[in-house]
Amino acid sequence: MTDPTPRKLIIAIDGPAGAGKSTIASRIARKLGYVNLESGAMYRALALKAIEWDTSFDDEAALMRLANDSRIELDPSIGGNRVLLDGCDVSTRIRERDVTEAASRVSVHPKVREWMVARQREMGLGGGVVMEGRDIGTKVFPDADVKIFLDADPVVREQRRLEQQKIQGEPAKAMAAELRERDRRDRTRAVSPLVAAPDAVVVDSTGLSEEQVLEKVEALIRQKLPATAD
Ligand code: DC
Repeated sequence: MTDPTPRKLIIAIDGPAGAGKSTIASRIARKLGYVNLESGAMYRALALKAIEWDTSFDDEAALMRLANDSRIELDPSIGGNRVLLDGCDVSTRIRERDVTEAASRVSVHPKVREWMVARQREMGLGGGVVMEGRDIGTKVFPDADVKIFLDADPVVREQRRLEQQKIQGEPAKAMAAELRERDRRDRTRAVSPLVAAPDAVVVDSTGLSEEQVLEKVEALIRQKLPATAD
């Protein structure tokens, strides 16, 4: 028998920077009529607040005071997540280099992660979400219906990022080094390091086009989509 009101899935897409998570997550969400939530944008918003309030990225207690005083909202739209910090649209600002570096440092703290995870769970609880990040399948939604770990060769990921941001020459070298350092921090932090959940399907996007990755991911999701009544 088919279900007349099929439950909407929780889809977790994790992986390192430059693996293509955001592009794939937003395309999948659009196709399914789900919302795409970029968990990284929340770490970025807190990092921006820390910059604005001149708070050390190493001071967990001070960061937690900031977090508890902050309103961080994700407003999913077709072009990506609009990010509001205390009601102000910071969507562009949080993509800048200083915030990118700060977010990586702010996200190592266990209490900061707990705070983020609690909010991310609230946002995704009803299903119908594609949430992307580093710990969605391992911590935020360990029971997610679909777990994908999107990976790619580090050199390819660096090249993609540099092309996206149209950076060449010496600045490109510096940026590649920063990406490698953020990767290292993500994978080696004591709490919720970046790892594929044991039940995640690893999709390696090295050498694949965006369409090919999308096809693979869609095939995995189709297996889990509940049958709909005709
Ligand atoms: O995905 P992103 O580059 O926007 O993420 C920004 C930072 O936040 C990145 O350094 C890793 C961290 N992050 C995390 O620790 N856990 C998540 N679920 C998402 C992002």
